[in-house]
Amino acid sequence: MDTMLDIAIYKNSVEPIYQQLARHFRLQIESGRMIAGDRLPPTRDLARQLGIGRISVVNAYAQLQTDGLIAAHPGRGTFVTGSRPVRPVNTNSVWAARNAPQFSMREMTRLARQSGVIAFSGGAPPEEFLPVEALRQAINTVLDRDGAAAVTYEESEGYPPLRASVSDYVTSLGIQCHPDDVLITGGAQQALDLVMQAVLSEGNVVLTGNPTYLGLLDIAHVRRIIPVGVPVDDEGMRINELELAIQDHRPGLIYVAPTYHNPTGAVMPIHRRRQLLALANQYNIPVLEDAVYHELTYHDTPPPPLKALDDQGIVLHTSGFSKILLPGTRIGYLIADGFLRERLVRVKQSADVCTPGLNQRAMQLYLANGLLVGHLNRVRGELRTRCEAACAAAKQYLPPGAQWVEPRGGLYLWVQLPDEGPTAAELYITAIQHGVAYAVGTLFHTDGGGSRHIRLNFASHTPARIKEGFKRLGEAWYAWQQQYAPAVQRTPIL
Ligand SMILES: Cc1ncc(COP(=O)(O)O)c(C=O)c1O
Repeated sequence: MDTMLDIAIYKNSVEPIYQQLARHFRLQIESGRMIAGDRLPPTRDLARQLGIGRISVVNAYAQLQTDGLIAAHPGRGTFVTGSRPVRPVNTNSVWAARNAPQFSMREMTRLARQSGVIAFSGGAPPEEFLPVEALRQAINTVLDRDGAAAVTYEESEGYPPLRASVSDYVTSLGIQCHPDDVLITGGAQQALDLVMQAVLSEGNVVLTGNPTYLGLLDIAHVRRIIPVGVPVDDEGMRINELELAIQDHRPGLIYVAPTYHNPTGAVMPIHRRRQLLALANQYNIPVLEDAVYHELTYHDTPPPPLKALDDQGIVLHTSGFSKILLPGTRIGYLIADGFLRERLVRVKQSADVCTPGLNQRAMQLYLANGLLVGHLNRVRGELRTRCEAACAAAKQYLPPGAQWVEPRGGLYLWVQLPDEGPTAAELYITAIQHGVAYAVGTLFHTDGGGSRHIRLNFASHTPARIKEGFKRLGEAWYAWQQQYAPAVQRTPIL
């Protein structure tokens, strides 16, 4: 063991040196021993003092930077950032493994926003898909028609005609629904949050696929709910593993996104949907179904939503208009029947009183004018083209050994990097330097897994930009290998 600056480095440990170093600084920052503005030693000096390769220090700093704990200022040095994550009161291993996920994403997003970077990291549909003109017309019509009523408080449950339109819409997907069962929410994100609040208490367990939607983990983190990951395969959550997890963890809720899953793109086949429902009914655990990508199919009609197969009222179904229409209007919905409905309305009311009425009315008009079907047909065709471009570019430019499954819907390509070479977090800064950004796989995991996975939102770019972005990604990977891999091999302590 070497100690220098109170840093303990075990050169014979199975834990790589850069991770030991990153862990040391993370602890210093989270415990408040290092605070915002504190300067970290220059990489060369620290490496020399500790008698380790400089690459270990560079990688440790890159990791901390990706986690948002430190920031490098060219010419001045590397400093602790101002907004370290709030330490959760509960210190069990789940919290420890899930080190402030929303913070990491923020830092990643900040880096990805640099000019010239082709960002595949976000979750939004492409801006050129958004029907701005139709929205303008709808808003003008609503204001002319409804005047002040459009901009005063709306009912907490939602604007009644929109609830009726949503009810008609989900009925067309096979869901038995009455307008009273519809709660309009501030995007699907709020629907997820409302359900988590209504159904679970602090310290309760929510079961979710692993990997899963990052926003679900963020809610769990903030609400002090424990997300437990259930292994997934190409068809989504594995049912035998789900049953074991139910028995082991006694969850209060099962979260599942069965169609064009974010981040994997997987679609759960109908027999597995039925098995999942049978288990939920057997153990009497409510299921929160997230269907925000259901419509974004580019080849075939996906299986019906879980809610359409649910004859016991155990499924709460959420979706919305962010991915298929206009994310910024923040219109989502929750279909909930039975005793939970009243409770959910109360939670919604306490959260924000109501979702903005003007947006609800404009959305209702858009739907009533029958514009959604044509819009979706255009979007699906373009998504298919972009997905094909992404898969072709991945084949051409990503290093040998990289793996992915071609998605049949949704916005994302989920890529596993080769075993030999950088992890997604290690590669991140080099990728940014090459002008390309992605989402790091660990963010989507409940247990720190996914270090060699990256999620690429190909949908947000034209085929030409996709090609260029994937080319840069491949170049970044090779550059990392050239710059660091020989050093890693040369340094016996690594
Ligand atoms: C699986 C999933 N659920 C919910 C959401 C949130 O959607 P909204 O913008 O409607 O809140 C997202 C957004 O990325 C998502 O990917």
